[in-house]
Amino acid sequence: MPIIYHETTKTFHLQNAHLSYVMQVLKNGQLGQLYFGKRVHDRVDFSYLVETSPRAMAVCPFEDDMSFSMDHLKQEFPVYGNGDMRHPALDVLQPNGSRYSQFVYVGHRIEKGKPSMHPLPHVYVENEDEMTTLTIELEDTVMQARLELVYSLDEQRPAIMRSARLTNEGEKPLQIDRMMSFALDLPDANYTMLELTGAWSRERHLKERSLQHGIQAIGSLRGHSSHNFNPFIALKRPKTTEYLGEAYGFSLIYSGNFLAQIEVDTYDTSRVMMGIHPQNFSWELASQETFQTPEAVFVYADQGLNALSQTFHDLYRHRLARGYWRDRPRPLLVNNWEGTYFDFNEARILEMAKTAKELGLELFVLDDGWFGHRNDDTTSLGDWYPNLQKLPEGITGLANKVTELGLGFGLWFEPEMISIDSDLYRAHPEWMLSTPHRHPSHGRHQYILDFSNPEVVKAIGDMMVKILSEAPISYVKWDMNRAMSEVYSLTTPSHEQGKVMHRYILGVYDLYDRLTTAFPKILFESCASGGARFDPGMLYYAPQAWTSDDTDAVERLKIQYGTSLVYPISSMGSHVSAVPNHQLSRITSLPFRANVAYFGTFGYELDVTKLSDEEKTIIKEQIQWMKDHRALIQFGTFYRLSSPFESNVTCWMVVSEDKREALVGWYRVLNKVNAAYERIRLAGLDEDMLYHVSGLELDLYGDELMHIGLLTSDHTSGERKATDPTQNGDFVSRIYHLKACG
Ligand code: DGJ
Repeated sequence: MPIIYHETTKTFHLQNAHLSYVMQVLKNGQLGQLYFGKRVHDRVDFSYLVETSPRAMAVCPFEDDMSFSMDHLKQEFPVYGNGDMRHPALDVLQPNGSRYSQFVYVGHRIEKGKPSMHPLPHVYVENEDEMTTLTIELEDTVMQARLELVYSLDEQRPAIMRSARLTNEGEKPLQIDRMMSFALDLPDANYTMLELTGAWSRERHLKERSLQHGIQAIGSLRGHSSHNFNPFIALKRPKTTEYLGEAYGFSLIYSGNFLAQIEVDTYDTSRVMMGIHPQNFSWELASQETFQTPEAVFVYADQGLNALSQTFHDLYRHRLARGYWRDRPRPLLVNNWEGTYFDFNEARILEMAKTAKELGLELFVLDDGWFGHRNDDTTSLGDWYPNLQKLPEGITGLANKVTELGLGFGLWFEPEMISIDSDLYRAHPEWMLSTPHRHPSHGRHQYILDFSNPEVVKAIGDMMVKILSEAPISYVKWDMNRAMSEVYSLTTPSHEQGKVMHRYILGVYDLYDRLTTAFPKILFESCASGGARFDPGMLYYAPQAWTSDDTDAVERLKIQYGTSLVYPISSMGSHVSAVPNHQLSRITSLPFRANVAYFGTFGYELDVTKLSDEEKTIIKEQIQWMKDHRALIQFGTFYRLSSPFESNVTCWMVVSEDKREALVGWYRVLNKVNAAYERIRLAGLDEDMLYHVSGLELDLYGDELMHIGLLTSDHTSGERKATDPTQNGDFVSRIYHLKACG
């Protein structure tokens, strides 16, 4: 039994082959946290772990017990006001004006499997034996509310899913002003916090900081999960590396405003919390109503960050992503955005599609600019019908012609947006989020539709369904190009305005749900000005996401490396674009650009009709190469070997499930004269297997490659070096193919 309950001591032990998670009902009925880490033996009584040292100045609930204070106890869902002076997981304003609460244990249930959390995205099971779910019920009889803490333990992976639900059992409404998805008190603070931070075009850079007393927090108030901070943090021991040491990962399955916070008190307890950001959130909970938080995922690793990432990759690829495309190799595409921007017509698109087909590509994606009268970014969002001046036979006509060429056809939408210059705005100005009597700020000249209003979601959905049903469309890119401001729903009563930002995200999920149900074979790629919504919530609906608007291959090393901390390679949209690169003006060779883009869902983002014959020959070979290797890349096990954040050389690899094949991507940013000898130790191979290593043209055992290393020092002859710009100078890359001999 993976979730054990000891009635005599009221102890819960979540235990699988990798981890243990221990809780106990405390003397005052609240739920205490005793241990989370590597698996330990079970015992009936873990109460020796409950901290009970008497401290001066402690606030104590029991007259006769100076050693029991909520301020010093590790807890599962702390509240404020009963002696715990740290920040709470829950803050509820009650009818009498009080915010004090005390939730005490009343019961629990343990069930096989994992229940659906619809309409919220969540980790799922395909059969009941994969996970076990514990629901602990706590009650506050004064508030007349029931709190349920839900824990699903993965039987195989070192992962636990957590969320919380609050039900108003009284007559009068309650107001939730803060409700985290979880809180976790860890008994020391000797950790480094990892986060994925950045900005537009430099998303998910890996940053580290040592925990300090006080609060360290990241979050988003932008309405999307954001370019700036990802809904993920990890704690690792200071000496933990990619392959050694302990690490805890915390990931929130949510696409809107979030808070991820670690509060270290002056006794060195670390309180980790994650959930919907309390700013601009306030939820009036009517009698008998329940509020469900988004789900958070905990992953534990005792063998370094690489193991932590592999658990996330495996879990998110198999039990968060869903549908027809989950396990299928993704189509190799060309997207016209950087090739044409808004300047295209049917003839130009068909010319591009024809060339793309000749090159061996499989899908043509028509990006922004095909609808309303959109010729730049100032108009037409919301008018989801084709611009007949550009496309005289509409999307259906164009899509038919493209599919007749033997390519799939994909289409861009930005469903959540509205332009002032649009028929939609003229008909429904009240559908735009804007605060009465306040000037609405624009972002990229556009405004945001009120997706908290189901009528709006339905109207946009109807327009999309019409196009998707009439034309042969096999792929949709769902974009979202601005952060939110002056958020106010004109169709929502004033006392419910605090619900708008969360309801908005539920509206987005609802539309995704409608479209993915109606069109199960359409491949959805999420996007938000590049990677502002690269989050687990989106992955539930769209198995791949546009990683960043920065298509420069050198910058992509950091972006893709950082993203891989949590997200699988099969989720990262990565395209080869033209040079000079449009974001940075950097010039890199075509092989370098492809060698980086291969490690993702591959495509091209340029005007293929402008390629020289020589470039076309190289690209044809690249496409064929990717066709031969994409299953291994997209579904193999990914290993990070050398970090672009620490080194001039980036290196990563994928290994097939049977370990008979592997690909190593090696990238050197700047050239060095008279450089040092370099070997990179590989990972994940079979020690006893003999591999042929292309590039080196040697047969080497797995143990040699993993313990001695792959020789990556320049091994080309001086003559070739001088003549082959892809092997000399800056921005040099190589792909080593390892194949089991015999
Ligand atoms: C932002 C996206 O990230 C780009 O790929 C492109 O689709 C543009 N929007 C179109 O407006």
